[in-house]
This record gives sequence, structure tokens and C-alpha cells, in this order.
Amino acid sequence: NWTMVNIADESIEAVRRQVGTKRAICGLSGGVDSAVAAALVQRAIGDQLTCVFVDHGLLRKGEAEQVEKDFVAATGVNLHVVDAQERFLAALDGVADPEQKRKIIGREFIRVFEEAARQVVGEDAAEPVEFLVQGTLYPDVVESGGGTGAANIKSHHNVGGLPDDLQFQLVEPLRTLFKDEVRALGEQLGLPSEIVWRQPFPGPGLGIRIVGAVTKERLDILRDADFIARTELSNAGLDRDIWQFPVVLLADVRSVGVQGDSRTYGHPIVLRPVTSEDAMTADWAKLPYELLQRISTRITNEVREINRVTVDITSKPPGTIEWE
Ligand code: XMP
Repeated sequence: NWTMVNIADESIEAVRRQVGTKRAICGLSGGVDSAVAAALVQRAIGDQLTCVFVDHGLLRKGEAEQVEKDFVAATGVNLHVVDAQERFLAALDGVADPEQKRKIIGREFIRVFEEAARQVVGEDAAEPVEFLVQGTLYPDVVESGGGTGAANIKSHHNVGGLPDDLQFQLVEPLRTLFKDEVRALGEQLGLPSEIVWRQPFPGPGLGIRIVGAVTKERLDILRDADFIARTELSNAGLDRDIWQFPVVLLADVRSVGVQGDSRTYGHPIVLRPVTSEDAMTADWAKLPYELLQRISTRITNEVREINRVTVDITSKPPGTIEWE
């Protein structure tokens, strides 16, 4: 695709001009925007870039590994991984309120990222890190009124500004692009299709797809159910037909069921497949019955704690895409 080749070449050249011989850091979220931004900047300045990935333990099954292995293999990027799973679990202990969860996750994220950034900056004090790479897209620019102001991690990660003594200039190579162009650019840069075609995923991750308090056990249950739903959607060839497919665990609800000769008393799972253009409005996706059937059978057979599978048939509005 010629246009994408040109966009890639021009953006790489622009990053080289902007950063020169200085160093840059980039926070990877597991999402497509930060991955494409990082891959592009890596092409431009190579080892002058260090990526930081905060593993908060709220990603879907296999996604942290994709960042740590496949993304690194595809790009050759320097990656600094922080395993912060315990820390996030501790901070979220007993918290069921959605907005409070968002605040806690956002706050912890910025603290961990800040510590990591200090370490990366301190690794080689002779060459201070002056630039922060962000995967800001054109719609983000428009939404925030055109200006970027001080260096923040993208607001959709629910993260506020960095502390004053960590001052960076921003590198935002995707500022003129829409999502579909970012995906095309990602393919052009050789990123794995699992990353390029990943559904939009909220910054607070699975933390806001557990209705109730977040625990390690609940996260594992949700991850297993979500993985089955995702796999079956993929096998049906319908990945690109839906916008998002949240799977939600109603962790404080139990219902009676029967399995073999025994009564069960497990948790329900909600499937929330939606179609949308921009997440502002959405329709519930009319997935084929055979697919829903397969997902339901597999989840109730394979995820021990789940004994009931439901489908959310509410559009947005009046529902939202996420349950929290
Ligand atoms: P709702 O649930 O409001 O979601 O219809 C609209 C879009 O935003 C995503 N979303 C979030 N993204 N942090 C994020 O980064 C959040 O706290 C958050 N809440 C919702 C949601 O996945 C959907 O794409």
C-alpha cells in the first residue's frame, strides 16, 4: 500500500528530525496505538528508544506475553517490564465501586510508570531521556481541543500528568491518523496481526469487567471465559465485524445450576459483543446462534466457577459498552 509506505517513511524521518541523537521512552499499554507509535519510533531512532510496559495483571490472557515476546521479536525494541500485579491487587483489595477502581488503577499506573521512567532515565545519566512517545490519534487530538499541553500519558489510560521533575517533550507520530490508518501502518511496520487487529481495550482493563471487588481468582476466571469467547469469535472469522466483545463477570451474583448429578451454585458471565463506529453509540451485535451456543457450552464446561452464560442485548444508549 503506497500511501502507507509514504506515511511510514515521512513519519520516521520527522521523528529523526525531532529527536536527533537524544533518548526517548514510551509506555506500552498492550493496545494498538502505543504499539504502532513505539514501532515507528524504533525504526527512526533504534536503541535511543526504551519502552516501558507496566504489567498490572488486568490484561486478557496472553496479552502481556504478546507485548513481552512477539512485539519485541517484531521490532527489536528495548523493553523494560515492570511486574506490578501484586501491587495493583493490593491497592484494589475490597474495592467494588467502578469509579474508585478507575481512580486507584490510574493512580497506581502513574506511580509505577514514574518509578520505571526514573530508572530508565537514571540508567545512563550522561544521556538524559528528553522525549516521551505517545500513541495519540487524530480523534484524541480533536477531543482534547487540539493542544497537548504538558506531558501526560494518554488520558484514556486514566492517568494524570507526570511529576514536575520528570519533564519530557512529546513525540506523537500518529497525531494525524485515524484508527484504520494506524492499523494499516502497524501492518506496514511488520507488527503481528494479533496486536494490529486487537479490539479497543479500556485502560483499567479487566478491573472494570468484574462487577464486584477484584481478586486474583476472579481475574483468572474472567480471563479463561474471555479467552474462550475471543477464540471462538476468531474461529468463526468474525473478529473484524465487531467493535468490542467485553466479557463481564458478575462476581457477587450466584445462581443455581445442575451439572451431571450435582447442583451447582456458580457465577454468571455476560457476553457483550457490540458493533460501533466510534464507541459513542453502539448496537448489540447479532452474533450467529451457533457461535453463541459454542461459547456457552465451552465456558460452562471449561470454567468451573461459571454455570450460566447470558448475552447483553442493550444498545448504547441507554446502556454503555462496559458494565462499569
Ligand atoms: P462505555 O462503557 O462508556 O465505553 O460505552 C466507551 C468506550 O470507552 C472504553 N472505556 C474506557 N477506556 N478507560 C479507558 O481507557 C476507561 O476507564 C474506560 N471506560 C470505558 C470502552 O471500552 C469503550 O471502548
